[in-house]
Amino acid sequence: EQIEKGGYEHFMLKEIYEQPRAILDTYRGRLLSQQGLIKMAGIDQNLEKFQNANRIIIVACGTSWHAGLVAEYIFEDLARIPVEVEYASEFRYRNPVITDKDVLIAISQSGETADTLAAIKLAKEKGAFVFGVCNVVGSSIARETDAGAYTHAGPEIGVASTKAFTTQITVLMLIALKLAMKKGIFSQSKFHEFLTELENIPSKVEQTLKQDKLVKEIAAVYKDSPNCLYLGRGYNFPVALEGALKLKEISYIHAEGYPAAEMKHGPIALIDEQMPVIVIAPKKGHYEKLISNIQEIKSRKGKIIAVVTEGDTSIRELADHVIGIPDTLESLTPLLTTIPLQLLSYHIAVMRGCNVDQPRNLAKSVTVE
Ligand code: G6P
Repeated sequence: EQIEKGGYEHFMLKEIYEQPRAILDTYRGRLLSQQGLIKMAGIDQNLEKFQNANRIIIVACGTSWHAGLVAEYIFEDLARIPVEVEYASEFRYRNPVITDKDVLIAISQSGETADTLAAIKLAKEKGAFVFGVCNVVGSSIARETDAGAYTHAGPEIGVASTKAFTTQITVLMLIALKLAMKKGIFSQSKFHEFLTELENIPSKVEQTLKQDKLVKEIAAVYKDSPNCLYLGRGYNFPVALEGALKLKEISYIHAEGYPAAEMKHGPIALIDEQMPVIVIAPKKGHYEKLISNIQEIKSRKGKIIAVVTEGDTSIRELADHVIGIPDTLESLTPLLTTIPLQLLSYHIAVMRGCNVDQPRNLAKSVTVE
């Protein structure tokens, strides 16, 4: 097992550090920037299904559901296709309206999650086209779907999902870019800009990982907090949910993720000098609005840990801690902002003496209801 961990103390840490490589492996052979092309057999062979789709329904559980939420922003923003994201367990039992004009995308690292598998079967019965985004090759979901794309993240052993999440987002991004191009929404130059930036992501993840020491210092300050709040807007709202889930899963600290603007409808009541609030605030779309959210937290004496674009000075003045990430396109920020949140949960869990790779009561793949 020590050999499998490749010198890392835990599988989770190894998998966090594998992300530059995993993301590269996900787009390798698919993203052909020289030719200005994205090649994905599962999409190429079923292009009409996607192009004529009334909507895309995404079903998943856990962290994969969060990747689905990021994909909702990506597909609607870039490819202008309506998207619904559903917990597989709710979708399968709520008598959903599904037609043969729907495309259902099931996201699953293991490809074995019982609820996701059942949702696929239901959608197929109703005539929808079903596409899988799985990591495990030959898994039940990979076999049950009409077509699919693997994430190629390599085996993920840690129960808390890390590299599966970022590679799922990468695959879904490739699909959305391809559709945006085919639908004529993107010019060749805009398409090229995205391809080039996607190719920069592995080295930007590498750079983000260099913040590990700083994140560890922050972890030491907040490791005994009983609660933690994560806030983000737009593309980074799902990242807030994922950050909170990661902390709950492995450190057993109660954490909640919220869209930053919803704070005033409830969570703001919880904020006092004891409450760490992690704000995901890259200098993009909703930046100014996030600054006012940060001011609201500060005036209630909450402790602010902000994930910001490198060089940001405005938030540095307000926050207790800032963690810088390299600049990138807004739609690609989740691939970077997620990294410090994974590291934060990891270090807090280790400092609390928790079993990071096998947290209590959780399973890597949930094959029963
Ligand atoms: C379990 C795992 C999570 C995972 C979820 C969905 O809860 O502990 O890490 O996100 O199942 O699993 P899947 O394999 O379908 O992505």
